[in-house]
Amino acid sequence: MRKKIAAGNWKMNTTPEEGLKLASQVIHMAQDESLSDTTIIMSVPFTHIESIKKIIPPTKNILIAAQNCHKEVSGAYTGEISAPMLQYLGVDCVVLGHSERREYYKESYAELETKTRIVLKHQMTPIFCCGEKLAKRQENAHFDLVKEQLSSSLFELNVIEFAKLVIAYEPVWAIGTGVTASSEEAQEMHHFIRDIITKKYGDSIAKKIPILYGGSVKPENAQSLFSCPDVDGGLIGGASLDAEGFIDIAKSF
Ligand code: 13P
Repeated sequence: MRKKIAAGNWKMNTTPEEGLKLASQVIHMAQDESLSDTTIIMSVPFTHIESIKKIIPPTKNILIAAQNCHKEVSGAYTGEISAPMLQYLGVDCVVLGHSERREYYKESYAELETKTRIVLKHQMTPIFCCGEKLAKRQENAHFDLVKEQLSSSLFELNVIEFAKLVIAYEPVWAIGTGVTASSEEAQEMHHFIRDIITKKYGDSIAKKIPILYGGSVKPENAQSLFSCPDVDGGLIGGASLDAEGFIDIAKSF
């Protein structure tokens, strides 16, 4: 059985103090018995990692993620954060290829492949994002685009490396808009993603890879999304900034 995952992506929100308070509320509520087999991930700003990491109990189901990392391990890259720095802080996962980074920082397929490799090399789990803009869906080119995003950055990984990934499908038109993909649209794409993974890496790997849905997930729609057979959880933006709402989402499996 695949892991059930509720991952909050805080993006560039909260001061370190506010973030610590939010994290402590999430951690407290996440220890509810009903969540014992759900993995809760908080993807927090770099500045918050050290203090939040200290309050996470040594259970297996509450993890901390970074929202990006640089593709090189060190060097003259002013303002950047490397994978070894994150590993040192005890980061479990790194979100890579979020559409905001592809759009605003022009992250290329090749760069994302290098980042994926560096994150894996430093024993962290990439949460690799893909997803189309509205125009691509309207042209019915969304499946081809998602296939291109995944195959161009990930399909040179070997089976052992690929098996460690988490994939997040986040249609850009659903991010921060209040418009969620219907459960049929989400399931259709998740099934498609699992299918291309099956063709490339085989059925047993494809069955193991968690595929999260992201884009306006809220307590009200989480249950119908998470009940889809190929949706293994969510990558939640805005709604993860409220501990109670986020935990409600995590309880929606
Ligand atoms: P929202 O949940 O705010 O739509 O954001 C989704 C997202 O981008 C998570 O990475």
